Amino acid sequence: MSEKRKKFYITTPIYYVNDKPHLGHSYTSIIADVLARHHRLLDKEVFFLTGTDEHGTKVVKAAEKAGKNPKEFVNEISTEFKKLNQILNVSNNDFIRTTDKKRHWPTVKKIWLKLKEKGVLYKKKYKGLYCIGCEAFITKKDLKNGKCISHQKEPEIIEEENYFFKLSKYAKKLEKIIQKNEIKIIPQTRKNEVLSFIKQGLEDISFSRPREDLKWAIPVPDDSSASIYVWTDALSNYISALGYAENGDKFKKFWPADVHCVGKDILKFHSIIWTGMLLSLKLPLPKTVFIHGHITIAGQKMSKSLGNVVDPFELVKKYGTDAVRYFLLREISPTEDGDFTYQKFEQRYNADLANGLGNLVARVITMMEKFNPPAGGQNLKFKTKINKTQKAYKKALNEFKFNEALIVIWELIGWCDKYIEQQKPWELLSQVQSSNLKDQKLKEILSNLLFAIDNIAEMLKPFLPETSEKIIKQLKTKKSKPLFPRI
Ligand code: MSP
Repeated sequence: MSEKRKKFYITTPIYYVNDKPHLGHSYTSIIADVLARHHRLLDKEVFFLTGTDEHGTKVVKAAEKAGKNPKEFVNEISTEFKKLNQILNVSNNDFIRTTDKKRHWPTVKKIWLKLKEKGVLYKKKYKGLYCIGCEAFITKKDLKNGKCISHQKEPEIIEEENYFFKLSKYAKKLEKIIQKNEIKIIPQTRKNEVLSFIKQGLEDISFSRPREDLKWAIPVPDDSSASIYVWTDALSNYISALGYAENGDKFKKFWPADVHCVGKDILKFHSIIWTGMLLSLKLPLPKTVFIHGHITIAGQKMSKSLGNVVDPFELVKKYGTDAVRYFLLREISPTEDGDFTYQKFEQRYNADLANGLGNLVARVITMMEKFNPPAGGQNLKFKTKINKTQKAYKKALNEFKFNEALIVIWELIGWCDKYIEQQKPWELLSQVQSSNLKDQKLKEILSNLLFAIDNIAEMLKPFLPETSEKIIKQLKTKKSKPLFPRI
């Protein structure tokens, strides 16, 4: 009897389309892609969702500045995000856009009306601090020297009548849920951060903006004076894409999410607001929220507003998709911030890709071109080493430690290099060629190395899919071709 395949639902945030994507945006998508590919290899039925968040005030301003109407503008930028996924080899199964009236809007409206029906939305006059960078009302806790910590901008003081969501009502429940890992917040430091934020007390939050200030957004279903505020609109993407509005099969099958991958700047939105909404809707809660750090430039978050962005399209054009994936996955410790410099990038490229991986594969395949060993057994030392590597690799992946998974693979690469230095197979090779003897020793060495490379290629599949495929092809055709030409 065949066992039913397990499902795995993974998401990235939906990206703001006020500007072209930068390298920082690639990061959430790449780590989510590694997980999606890893779970597909575990034979799970994976649904991997990404998309674009298109109704913010920033979008309208950016469109005006570009002399375009918002619709035209968001179409262009959303296409750039789709292209970015393609060039980075991101294997998403779907791409949701919040301007999609057919797929997204019915869910948003359904959620709104349900929340209203449950009595958790109410209207009130409100005066507060608004950060346009966050697209959110913020509090004094979010400021440092009078400026928003994330965007280093002074917030505006806004007074208006809005719908509020009774988040305060859920404070105790949320605390318990997070404390008990009913939603796992990874890493622990972020879990602690959320818990201490909740303990300071949660305020009700604004879920609408006056229609005249945000005409571009989805209107509140039963009140023409208000627009649904961007965060409510955005978080609902995780269920709209599954067809929540019509209670479709995909929704029944894939919800709740197994992993929401998000950057640290949107931790609270996902762990507190989204959870609060799901509790009111009486929907199952996501299992894990994984929070990563930021790509920085000289210690500052890479962002358009700070003017320090690196163009991922240029980077891929110059160094190739897998080199960019490798750098981000290996160099950045996923739960911390990590700095990008061209110097570091080229160092990693030359040392790890051109020399480390590329060189090992080239050496072994070249020897195979000359001496084609029949499939042979591997010695115990090799088998043990590879088992150990696989274990450490799986553990790292289960713990979202992408860099550590790569470290163990490269440790194996180094180990193989040492083995080659010690065994000097090329010396045996020249003896075999001159004497025309089938050398048992050479056969064993090459089978060991082939076995290792085969396993390396397998482990690289989620990380460097193209390179992994190239290695497997070279192993089959026994034709060597440089994987990463030196720069
Ligand atoms: N639209 C909201 C998310 C709504 S999800 C329901 C948003 N968009 S964003 O475009 O600003 O950010 C999307 C993702 O990109 C976030 O996970 C964010 O952390 C990530 N990054 C943006 N700049 C980044 C870096 N410099 N480094 C790493 N990730 C960064 O927030």
